[in-house]
Amino acid sequence: MKLNATTLTSAAAVVLLPLLLIGWMEEGAALPHDLPLSPPLGNPQTYEAVRQVSHHAQRQQMDGDSSSRLMPRVDVNQDHLNICCLHANILDFYLNNILHYHNNENPSMHRLKTDLSRVSEDLKAHGCNVTHYHDHHHTVEFRRKLTRMGGKQGINKAVGEIDILFTFLQDFCVQSSLNRSRAAANATEH
Ligand SMILES: *[C@@H]1O[C@H](CO)[C@@H](O)[C@H](O)[C@H]1NC(C)=O
Ligand SMILES: *[C@@H]1O[C@H](CO)[C@@H](O)[C@H](O)[C@H]1NC(C)=O
Ligand SMILES: *[C@@H]1O[C@H](CO)[C@@H](O)[C@H](O)[C@H]1NC(C)=O
Repeated sequence: MKLNATTLTSAAAVVLLPLLLIGWMEEGAALPHDLPLSPPLGNPQTYEAVRQVSHHAQRQQMDGDSSSRLMPRVDVNQDHLNICCLHANILDFYLNNILHYHNNENPSMHRLKTDLSRVSEDLKAHGCNVTHYHDHHHTVEFRRKLTRMGGKQGINKAVGEIDILFTFLQDFCVQSSLNRSRAAANATEH
């Protein structure tokens, strides 16, 4: 059999793969997985705070409120960073316009605000241009529905959906393990 570029490449991969796996194991992960772009997105305590605040708001809702969801239903077959940054825009809207007006006594609220502010900063540091999504049809529609619902009812509905927002951020604001191993390989080269 004649050696060609392809066999050489796969031979290189066979040599390289165990090195990458060792790299992953050194990071303490049993399996390669995607890392969140912001630490609170992978923190179970943040998730618990989100869950408590959203359930608390949902319990205060009147019957029938569940009919029209505010959070956009996005096409998930697009670049993940796009979906991430679109939701980063909505997250900013929550931080500036919704959570301030939702002064419930839920003890998880303080932690939620602190952690979500951190997430917002981290996503901007990772290149999310939040302003860019201001006129996106999904964010326009989100604000339109909220305005139509109005006042306390709209705020409550939005807070009740914060678990949906958080899940999207968790699922799409990630750095793939492939990119990380490339970055790690680059780092050792230099
Ligand atoms: C962010 O997006 C806005 C609106 O699309 C644009 O005007 C601005 O130049 C962008 N900023 C950066 C740093 O790319
Ligand atoms: C890998 O990183 C590059 C630039 O850093 C980015 O453009 C690309 O979308 C990333 N790919 C994945 C699958 O995350
Ligand atoms: C690694 O380096 C290559 C070229 O040397 C570059 O194309 C690639 O974007 C780098 N990847 C990362 C994740 O830094």
